[in-house]
Amino acid sequence: MNLNDCHNFDDFRKLAKKKLPSPIFHYIDGGSDDEITLQRNTESFNQCDLIPNVLAGGGKPDLSTEIFGRKISMPIFLSPTAMQRLYDPEGDRASARAAAKLGTMYGMSTMATSSIEEIANISSGPKLFQLYIHKDKSITDDLIERCKRANFDGLCLTVDTIVAGNRERDHRTGFTTPPKLTIKSLFEFAAKPSWVFNYLTNKKFELSNVKHKTDKGTNITKSVIEYVNEQYDPKMNWKDAEYCIKKWNGPFALKGIMSVEDAKKALDIGCTAILISNHGGRQLDGSRSPFDQLKEISDAVGDKLEIILDGGVRRGTHVLKAIAAGAKACSFGRMFLFSLAAGGQAGVERALQNMHNEIQRNMLLMGCKNIKELNRSKIIYRK
Ligand SMILES: Cc1cc2nc3c(=O)[nH]c(=O)nc-3n(C[C@H](O)[C@H](O)[C@H](O)COP(=O)(O)O)c2cc1C
Repeated sequence: MNLNDCHNFDDFRKLAKKKLPSPIFHYIDGGSDDEITLQRNTESFNQCDLIPNVLAGGGKPDLSTEIFGRKISMPIFLSPTAMQRLYDPEGDRASARAAAKLGTMYGMSTMATSSIEEIANISSGPKLFQLYIHKDKSITDDLIERCKRANFDGLCLTVDTIVAGNRERDHRTGFTTPPKLTIKSLFEFAAKPSWVFNYLTNKKFELSNVKHKTDKGTNITKSVIEYVNEQYDPKMNWKDAEYCIKKWNGPFALKGIMSVEDAKKALDIGCTAILISNHGGRQLDGSRSPFDQLKEISDAVGDKLEIILDGGVRRGTHVLKAIAAGAKACSFGRMFLFSLAAGGQAGVERALQNMHNEIQRNMLLMGCKNIKELNRSKIIYRK
């Protein structure tokens, strides 16, 4: 199996599984507790059906939309995700280049393995930075200042991770940052010699954005769960979010909003956008899916906030349903991480191109010439 055999999420996932040591594969693939929310995130799209209009005159539909003040070529972009150097030697650099090439947004995590400056140097494409608030508040100030200097387009603050979700697969595999060869994991790493070779002979693993502030997770091996619980501020509140908005003074989103009440508060404190998200089912298991919450949140704030649907997106039709229900765009994590592991930058480009083709084909089949024509009249929820 190679990249040319990858036509959908399952194909990319299968190839990634072949290439990655199992602790790393399961870190990407897994969710929290019983993984019910993880499953639900994708399943929920099947609770709603598309209603096409025919004989609409055809022509190439316009897939573009605008988020965080930047036009993007299609209504899907790369969610910010941690430690991409583990999935491919080029890591974030590969994802950022692929996103720029396809004309969409790249999201960078605080826990990225390339720095804000490095990515700004290689990509003039649309860029979003994702902030985690550490107990050491000087880290927040430092990250915001650096994003301003590097001309990032938008900032989002992740609000669903004040404590790490219970990711039992990571407990079982002993996954750590940076990866450590333990008796438990030795066999798993030894089974993927080309990954080990690439890991040892390429750029050293580091949490590039925070390494000058903390050794933990960069030089000192930690489980990701320990890292989150030691470093992130569990007392983070609305005042902290407001502080970030004022300091950034540009397009700003909260990532991890799931209720109408919180969406209204986000608007009140000055957010320009929200990501409806449950962290890809990696935090509160048993929580509703983003798509299940989208309609209600969109009815409450959709005309005043840019709504981004994040979680469970695997198909172009999922994006169409989200747009019709009220989102301005969607973002995805596992889909592009598996494609990155499967084929580096070329893999991410292929996943994005596939998604572009699916959205385009399905908009044609729906009789929609542009994103605006995808509205509530085009979907129906099952009883
Ligand atoms: C391996 C992995 C690492 C992630 N790291 C981060 C992170 O550093 N910051 C963050 O806000 N979200 C992180 N997320 C969540 C994603 O941004 C996104 O919300 C989620 O992947 C969406 O669900 P999907 O994978 O079903 O598309 C991570 C997700 C995965 C799978």
